[in-house]
Amino acid sequence: MKKIAVAIDGPGGAGKSTISKAVAKKLGIIYVDTGALYRTVGYYARENGISVEGAKTAEKMTPLLDGINIEIKYVDGAQHVILNGEDLGDKIRQPDISMYASAVSSVPSVRAFLLEAQKELARKNSVIMDGRDIGTVILPEAEVKIFLTASSEARATRRYKELIAKGVEVKFEDVLSEMNERDHADSTRAAAPLKPADDAHYFDNSDYDFDGSVEYIIKLIEEKTGVKAIEE
Ligand code: DC
Repeated sequence: MKKIAVAIDGPGGAGKSTISKAVAKKLGIIYVDTGALYRTVGYYARENGISVEGAKTAEKMTPLLDGINIEIKYVDGAQHVILNGEDLGDKIRQPDISMYASAVSSVPSVRAFLLEAQKELARKNSVIMDGRDIGTVILPEAEVKIFLTASSEARATRRYKELIAKGVEVKFEDVLSEMNERDHADSTRAAAPLKPADDAHYFDNSDYDFDGSVEYIIKLIEEKTGVKAIEE
């Protein structure tokens, strides 16, 4: 199979990661979750007693980077991020780590620190990579670029249901306001803000369910690359 790169950008809660994971499986390529890298740096900042406000500054973050070694591994197609020898697993999925990840991602030295590892994965493998700046900065040459979004209500509802299903006690209003706050921060920051690449395909999946979204994206990839799904 020829090597391909698919870039999926968009705000939180649009289903980028679950949809990309399913698409990767159907195409037999790897799924790269770049948010996990920012979450890992955010986790390290929190472990080192940095406040969320401090995590937005180069002054606090740049010196910390020297103490961080991140490895990305794939086990049965699932991505594992290893921080200084420790597989962090779900520790990076806590809601406060989302805020830390968003905070550290606004610091240019953090973005520069994570850049090469992301590019390297796409040089070596066929990938579907999701994030905020994949089509614009990380893989500007990707054959397929999708900006995946949905209304903030639809996205907050999905995120709320996910958290409730996991047994996390949350209020819908809090999920919605945190999502709006993070969207605003991610799209207005100076360094690699969240925005569609000029040549990205805009896909609003507010009215699509999970299977419909996967099917839509598979079709687009098949059309643009000629690669065929190996599994229906
Ligand atoms: O996709 P996610 O929710 O796991 O991402 C967490 C944060 O990381 C998000 O708020 C912004 C940041 N991020 C980024 O700036 N660039 C990326 N390519 C991926 C994530």
